[in-house]
Amino acid sequence: MDNYYFMYKDIPVAAFVIAKGFFSGMAKPVINKNAISLLPFGANNIPQLVHWFSERSIPLTREGLNDYENSHTIRLERIIQNLALSLTDSYWIKPVKSDLNWDRVNLFKNDFEDKNFFDVIEESKQKVTEYSPNSTLNGDMAKKWIVDKTGVRCLTKVGKNKSIQQALNEIIATKFHLKQNMNNFVPYKLIKVIHNDRSTYGCSCPNAIKEGEQITIAYDVVKSEKVEKNTNWITQYKKIANSNGIDSVELDNFLSYMILSDFVLSNSDRHYGNFGLIWNTELHKFTKIMPIYDTGTSLFYSEDIPTTLKGLLKLEVNGIDKKEVNSLRHVTDRSVLDLNALLTNDELFALINQDIHLKEERKQDIIQAYQKKCKLISDFQNGMDLWKYPVQQLY
Ligand SMILES: Nc1ncnc2c1ncn2[C@@H]1O[C@H](COP(=O)(O)OP(=O)(O)OP(=O)(O)O)[C@@H](O)[C@H]1O
Ligand SMILES: [Mg+2]
Repeated sequence: MDNYYFMYKDIPVAAFVIAKGFFSGMAKPVINKNAISLLPFGANNIPQLVHWFSERSIPLTREGLNDYENSHTIRLERIIQNLALSLTDSYWIKPVKSDLNWDRVNLFKNDFEDKNFFDVIEESKQKVTEYSPNSTLNGDMAKKWIVDKTGVRCLTKVGKNKSIQQALNEIIATKFHLKQNMNNFVPYKLIKVIHNDRSTYGCSCPNAIKEGEQITIAYDVVKSEKVEKNTNWITQYKKIANSNGIDSVELDNFLSYMILSDFVLSNSDRHYGNFGLIWNTELHKFTKIMPIYDTGTSLFYSEDIPTTLKGLLKLEVNGIDKKEVNSLRHVTDRSVLDLNALLTNDELFALINQDIHLKEERKQDIIQAYQKKCKLISDFQNGMDLWKYPVQQLY
């Protein structure tokens, strides 16, 4: 058994035990009563903290990990070796007997290089610390943090197939938001990587989080209070965000824009882990809405492409609502998406055409579906409630 502190920078927020060879995560935690305000958002008592910590790892569903790498023991070992450091908050774990401090382990400042996972061509190859933030990084796509040649911490992701569409979709979303003049999104660019001995493309975006801030996914915001029966999750999300520092009009507009742009791009993965807020640990409030991130699963990347308007209205997604069209019910201002500033079909084609492994016919089908989605949003802006059956029969 090893004794650890759960640290926020240099302040022990809790003490706990790790039992060797058995991944029970944080065992026997005791919270430091003088540091309660520094606990992660939504982890205000021992069971919540244990749960929060157990989520701090590479998910079992991560692509490309073999059975050995994905075993509990190896995952735990990596987390311990890397002191559970992360680039999405400033928490870490410190062996009680060690004299390590935040200045020494802080990966927002100290450069790192992780040779596990894939190779990124533009990664700075100057290893300074032995720690990496990747053992706590979640999400299913193969991914790792790098320090790029200008010193910026960048999240890099690679798709699983030969097709680079998943990475390309992030770039498409970036161009889409730029043309809309939207200013709260994570900008992605294409990068060259070597993955499984093959040269391919992935995508890369700068870290949206600064030291002292914590990404709080919408799921954790919603679950930080009891969800009463019949309470809609989005309503609860907004209520908690507003009472902890986020302006209600700003959040309404942000969510309206996110839902509308996801609809046009057919993003099928806007689940409650793929949007959220930024918590400032020391100010003890939300200071920002997390910029739009993770739009990789868009434009029918791994799905059949409906050819009719009716078919597009029946799409099922892993999103805010199970039926994609129902997410539009949460749009409070239909005009936040500028129909005159949408990517044109030609602009979209030029982007997807970069994927040499995408079949010609599929590219055409994607454009057709995109065009139909734009038409549906135009009708929606003209007052049609697209989820209603009489309206759906019009198509
Ligand atoms: N720009 C960013 N800055 C800081 N953290 C980020 C950024 N983008 C993503 N993250 C964090 O990394 C996690 C994984 O990223 P992302 O959601 O893009 O990956 P994914 O594998 O596509 O996810 P999913 O499993 O939802 O498909 C996110 O849940 C978020 O916590
Ligand atoms: Mg994600």
